[in-house]
Amino acid sequence: MTANRIALVTGASRGLGRSAALALAARGVRVVATYRGDATGAEETAQQVQAAGGTAALVRLDISDVSSFGAFTSELGDLLEGGGFASRHRGQQRGVGVFGPLEAVTADDFDAVFGTNVRGTFFLIQTLVPLLAQGARIINVSSSLTRHTSPATSVYSASKAAVEALSRTLAAELGPRDIRVNSIAPGPTATDFNGGAMRDDAEMRQGLAGRTALGRVGEPEEIGDAIATLASEGLRWMTAQRIEVSGGALL
Ligand SMILES: NC(=O)c1ccc[n+]([C@@H]2O[C@H](COP(=O)([O-])OP(=O)(O)OC[C@H]3O[C@@H](n4cnc5c(N)ncnc54)[C@H](OP(=O)(O)O)[C@@H]3O)[C@@H](O)[C@H]2O)c1
Repeated sequence: MTANRIALVTGASRGLGRSAALALAARGVRVVATYRGDATGAEETAQQVQAAGGTAALVRLDISDVSSFGAFTSELGDLLEGGGFASRHRGQQRGVGVFGPLEAVTADDFDAVFGTNVRGTFFLIQTLVPLLAQGARIINVSSSLTRHTSPATSVYSASKAAVEALSRTLAAELGPRDIRVNSIAPGPTATDFNGGAMRDDAEMRQGLAGRTALGRVGEPEEIGDAIATLASEGLRWMTAQRIEVSGGALL
């Protein structure tokens, strides 16, 4: 059932993107993994996919650089034709976080967050939708921070709220083409994100654990598995939803 499935996983050089690539590959989905600057990390992702018996191709993509999307699409097209990859594609988008209290956020910070998380996500979907087959899924990565609040996260949270709104609206727009659009909202997860704080800062981890139903922060594999499950046939009737995967953080 998954033989003709291909997933484009953005930001797959590490963190949640890598875990999503691995989880999809473990379910027999061929992966096109993108990275922005960390070619070595992306190679590692590809090697891990291959070691697990999967297939991964790598393409560089900076989601904040909308002007590069045409060239990216051509490269992707060549790759898919050359590799004999067929029919169904799924996408996940990655994002950036710049955190700071109101008075510390600059206009450049604001533009960097919205330029990647919202503008980049929107125009990448616009660019790639013509490549998508019937039954394709688009999975955008939001955050539990659209439900609960935390100091100094206003711009990031607002960008993720925008991602959720885009996802719902595009679900309505793309439904007639048999394309599903959902967003997944991870809670605090141990990756490089936010300077690796959720992985390395014992005090922060303990504080978050005490406010999480399952009593700890998440591991990247738990988000990767959720993304792969969301992309599976069993959830083919689900669209326009926000699915939180946070172990019950800050309920
Ligand atoms: N970790 C958490 O606690 C958490 C919670 C909620 C939501 N999220 C969301 O989950 C997503 C992934 O976070 P993560 O924890 O995996 O972070 P991470 O470990 O820091 O990884 C970030 C990834 O995004 C890529 N990236 C950054 N800027 C990019 C750009 N402009 N264009 C393309 N790729 C870019 C990086 O590529 P390079 O390495 O090549 O630069 C890297 O692969 C983000 O959208 C984040 O907002 C994370």
